[in-house]
Amino acid sequence: MSTNGSSAGRVVEFDVDRYLRNSKKVDLSGIDWEDVPNHPLTDGDVMCLHYMMDIETHTVIYLRDLLATRAAQDPHVTAFLACWVYEELWHGEAFSDFLRAHGLEVPAEPRLPDGSRPLPTRPTRTRRLREQMGVGHQLFVLPSMLGSMLVRDFVALHMTWGAINELTTLTGYHQLIRRSEHPVLHAMLRRVIQDERRHFAFYRAQGKARLAAAPRRTRKVVRWIFENFWTPVGAGVKSQEEVDALALYLFGDSPEGREGIREIDHTIQEIPGLEGLTLLEDTLDRALDRAARRPGWGGVASAPARDEQLTGAGPEAWSSEQAAA
Ligand SMILES: [Fe+2]
Ligand SMILES: [Fe+2]
Repeated sequence: MSTNGSSAGRVVEFDVDRYLRNSKKVDLSGIDWEDVPNHPLTDGDVMCLHYMMDIETHTVIYLRDLLATRAAQDPHVTAFLACWVYEELWHGEAFSDFLRAHGLEVPAEPRLPDGSRPLPTRPTRTRRLREQMGVGHQLFVLPSMLGSMLVRDFVALHMTWGAINELTTLTGYHQLIRRSEHPVLHAMLRRVIQDERRHFAFYRAQGKARLAAAPRRTRKVVRWIFENFWTPVGAGVKSQEEVDALALYLFGDSPEGREGIREIDHTIQEIPGLEGLTLLEDTLDRALDRAARRPGWGGVASAPARDEQLTGAGPEAWSSEQAAA
């Protein structure tokens, strides 16, 4: 463990030097791409893969917003972010390769005359997504900039937010391994998860160190912001129904899913100021509520009661329209 950031009286339990030296494109050697079409994916699996691909590809926009804040002043944070965004780009490409190997590419993207596809893949899809979100509008970074001025240690807030995003992501990938029976997908996700663990470790160490060193008032403000403004990873990029559909598919189907989401909350509760928060489980419960009130919501065929897990909601519970286009 190193003491990066100790100049501000903080001890950050993450070795940034080591991370920077070892950062690389996710190693997918040995992944049997030719075998991908030989195993089925459910509509739910495909929905998750599209969601995950879009979120990974969106990371650079998240970085743009983050660099508009005081986070840009910290050399340890910016060095990490430089490598982090590179690794996330390759995660997006990995999901893209996997879906294409399975014969899924919506919308169809142009190819070169020899049939190859230049990088980055899916530029049409990415461009459309960013247009829909209004990315590129000058006012887009305003909330981050204002937040940065209002919250004294805005970086603490952002690092903690990042920790929750990374932990949710890697837990979601574990749940997709549980739900899907595709062996090549399992192998690919396990490689990506190794990166996500390092990302989570950095953000958690930063968030913990900063909040532990911050005045009590700062911890209270950060907690209040999480209680009132936090949204799960993908909200803003994806519609409410898409966010709910993912939560229901990965976490709302069984006691194992519920246990997975509780583990996220338990880990986040160890961050100073966030004791007792149940952000993720509350999100799942709200998704279950909406699905119970509106049959068909999120692709769940039957309406589950809030405390009833969607036990037995197998692939047949997912209508084909839910395969995210
Ligand atoms: Fe990632
Ligand atoms: Fe990550």
